Amino acid sequence: MSVGRRRLRLVGILMMINFFIYVIVEVSKSDGQDKNGKGSVLIPTGKFWKRRAACGAYWNREQQKLNRLYNPILNLLNNVTVDEMVALNATQLNSCEMDTNIKSEIKDFDNLPDRFKDFLYYLRCKNYSLVLDEPDKCKDKPFLLLAIKSLTPQFDRRQAIRESWGKELKVNNMTVVRVFLLGDTPQADNHPNLSGLLKYESEKYKDILLWNYRDTFFNLTLKEVLFLKWVSHSCPDVQFIFKGDDDVFVNTHQILDYLKTLSAEKAKDLFVGDVIKDAGPHRDKKLKYYIPESLYEGTYPPYAGGGGFLYSGNIALRLYNATSRVLLYPIDDVYTGMCLEKLGLAPEKHKGFKTFDIDEKQKNNICSYSNLILVHPRKPQEMIKIWSKLQDSSLNC
Ligand SMILES: *[C@@H]1O[C@H](CO)[C@@H](O)[C@H](O)[C@H]1NC(C)=O
Ligand SMILES: *[C@@H]1O[C@H](CO)[C@@H](O)[C@H](O)[C@H]1NC(C)=O
Ligand SMILES: *[C@@H]1O[C@H](CO)[C@@H](O)[C@H](O)[C@H]1NC(C)=O
Ligand SMILES: *[C@@H]1O[C@H](CO)[C@@H](O)[C@H](O)[C@H]1NC(C)=O
Ligand SMILES: *[C@@H]1O[C@H](CO)[C@@H](O)[C@H](O)[C@H]1NC(C)=O
Ligand SMILES: *[C@@H]1O[C@H](CO)[C@@H](O)[C@H](O)[C@H]1NC(C)=O
Ligand SMILES: *[C@@H]1O[C@H](CO)[C@@H](O)[C@H](O)[C@H]1NC(C)=O
Repeated sequence: MSVGRRRLRLVGILMMINFFIYVIVEVSKSDGQDKNGKGSVLIPTGKFWKRRAACGAYWNREQQKLNRLYNPILNLLNNVTVDEMVALNATQLNSCEMDTNIKSEIKDFDNLPDRFKDFLYYLRCKNYSLVLDEPDKCKDKPFLLLAIKSLTPQFDRRQAIRESWGKELKVNNMTVVRVFLLGDTPQADNHPNLSGLLKYESEKYKDILLWNYRDTFFNLTLKEVLFLKWVSHSCPDVQFIFKGDDDVFVNTHQILDYLKTLSAEKAKDLFVGDVIKDAGPHRDKKLKYYIPESLYEGTYPPYAGGGGFLYSGNIALRLYNATSRVLLYPIDDVYTGMCLEKLGLAPEKHKGFKTFDIDEKQKNNICSYSNLILVHPRKPQEMIKIWSKLQDSSLNC
């Protein structure tokens, strides 16, 4: 069909839609339904908008408060008084005081595993500071930033990444830079004092971002928020970001090839990974991902598995903005999904992200790595081996 004919058809369809709307409006006007006998319009007496009844689970209840705080229209409709707003403000602001009130808010609080208590006591505190920073990392406006979640003692994983897929490079003026994201491993938790070694590593490789919060599984969400804040302040012009774990193999050249093919429109809203849909909290106490009923109810929005995902710098800035409107959730990739949802976006599945590994039979075939973006898990030695084989110019897949 020519463009002209298509346009003509579109105009025709629009005219028909208009006509139907006209008919419906006219028919409903002549219908006595919403008029009383004297022809004047009846105004409903009840409120058109209703505030939904507060959910039982703590996170959901608190998030509803936040939603109200950030939704002035809903506030007006619901006639929220100024006093209520002030009360909301006081409780919702970024308090870093230990929340001792929490015990009375969650009925089974005392029986929750310690990691939940630790998480809940400081639920609203997000403003931790950088101890080691690389403020000039992005001065050349990189094309791709590799941000790798690591833990202080995992020196060998970081070194293997530096020597393989995480090399800082410049191909056809596309600059790739790298940072590792770390929190504190305090001696209070019986960790050995590795700060001297870490300081040496940071001076030598200039790729360490270290914040002063306790680096635990449930605090990975803090790692996400603080990283997004860092991007907003120190790397706002980056075009794309890969964020992932330090136990994955990434085919960085494959990422660059993929990014080059994107249209400008697609590139702006890019967020791809191994997307998990229609999931919800695990209720088995023995699982790492267990979440008690008293903390969260409902399903999760679609989210990309935290092993690794790829997104645009533009989305990173918008995501950071959304973090102030979403209460911390103890599972970091679910939290990112929640923030995306707030922005009206959803992550897109890309089949190159193999977060559940590839077939055992294919693992030793180097050609199975040439077209994928990510595979999980791989040990440091495996990363180096796969990378060096992929660089072989005689490789023919
Ligand atoms: C809204 O709040 C004001 C003051 O608190 C009160 O006088 C008024 O009746 C309320 N309106 C509705 C519709 O609830
Ligand atoms: C709530 O806090 C924000 C900023 O922190 C402020 O602008 C707003 O006026 C406060 N609302 C009330 C009702 O105090
Ligand atoms: C975060 O900011 C609050 C006030 O806004 C302050 O009381 C608190 O000490 C800060 N926390 C950290 C860890 O810097
Ligand atoms: C590559 O370099 C040219 C000239 O220096 C510049 O105009 C262009 O924007 C660069 N491309 C990228 C992807 O950075
Ligand atoms: C940990 O080690 C560093 C460097 O060796 C030292 O400066 C620091 O005081 C130590 N910290 C503690 C709490 O002992
Ligand atoms: C997260 O880090 C903060 C600051 O160090 C700490 O108070 C809190 O206990 C940590 N939370 C978890 C779940 O470890
Ligand atoms: C962040 O959100 C505010 C409103 O909440 C908006 O004015 C601002 O433009 C947003 N910034 C970005 C980068 O999206």
